Amino acid sequence: MADDFTTPLTVEQMYGDWGFEWEDAVAMTDRSLGPRPRTSMYDTFGTLGIGAGGYVLDIGARDAAQALDLAERFACRVLAVDPVQANADLAAEVIAAHEHGGLVDIKLGTINDIPADDGTFDAIFSRDMMGHVEDLEGALSECRRVLKDGGAMTIHDVFATPMLEPQESARLCADLAQVPERLDAELFERTAEETGFTIEVTDRVASEWLETLLEGEDGEKRLLTAARLHRCKDRFVEEMGVIPFRVVRGNNLWTIYRMIGKLEDRVYVIRA
Ligand SMILES: C[S@@+](CC[C@H](N)C(=O)[O-])C[C@H]1O[C@@H](n2cnc3c(N)ncnc32)[C@H](O)[C@@H]1O
Repeated sequence: MADDFTTPLTVEQMYGDWGFEWEDAVAMTDRSLGPRPRTSMYDTFGTLGIGAGGYVLDIGARDAAQALDLAERFACRVLAVDPVQANADLAAEVIAAHEHGGLVDIKLGTINDIPADDGTFDAIFSRDMMGHVEDLEGALSECRRVLKDGGAMTIHDVFATPMLEPQESARLCADLAQVPERLDAELFERTAEETGFTIEVTDRVASEWLETLLEGEDGEKRLLTAARLHRCKDRFVEEMGVIPFRVVRGNNLWTIYRMIGKLEDRVYVIRA
């Protein structure tokens, strides 16, 4: 297999005889590569051995959906924490209506100011929220404070790859309230180690969760949405306003970039 992916191809190389037909190449790529669903993060969390009697913090919990999943799967108690009042209100409703809601509480707070005493939790779960954090060192130190000795965090976040151009990064971060430095995986790992954590697992999930979604029955409309948002921007801005338009477009591109390798999903387990 050639290892030079940057030399310009010749027309002969592009159109010449590859030894197989174009349809064969399509068939090679049109098959599942066995991606894991996004519940793989629960499998990773499961390796921590938390069960009934365990107490877990879900930081950046939004509507408490993951907190409830954790309670249901592991029979542990969960404190869901989120800084946005609308999220906390929704979470309270969802918890009240859920079969396992008795194991879950919701409180307002941020990762830099967690509403809990020192050494409260056996484990911390954080999915898709670290990108919003300005002070990562302070955030991880605060997590250490509320963790019991030897407790661990399971963290999902999305990081940039060399394929993400600076302009793309700047626009995405501005539209999605992301801190640009949080896209830097090396910086995350360094900060985790500097705040006294040991990185036990680095799971480069990449596009697996999204491949699973795309292979499912629902199909995927992200590209169509991107085309519409781009072609008729003024119309959407008029219909929904500037801020919702930016968030909808940013969110859509965020997903597409995760699918095409400009962004990479990772799950870390770090232990205090
Ligand atoms: C992309 S959502 C992810 C929600 C949920 N964890 C999930 O995976 O579906 C990010 C969440 O992080 C919350 N968030 C933002 N800044 C935060 C902070 N500094 N501390 C804790 N949570 C924060 C937001 O309110 C939002 O609910």
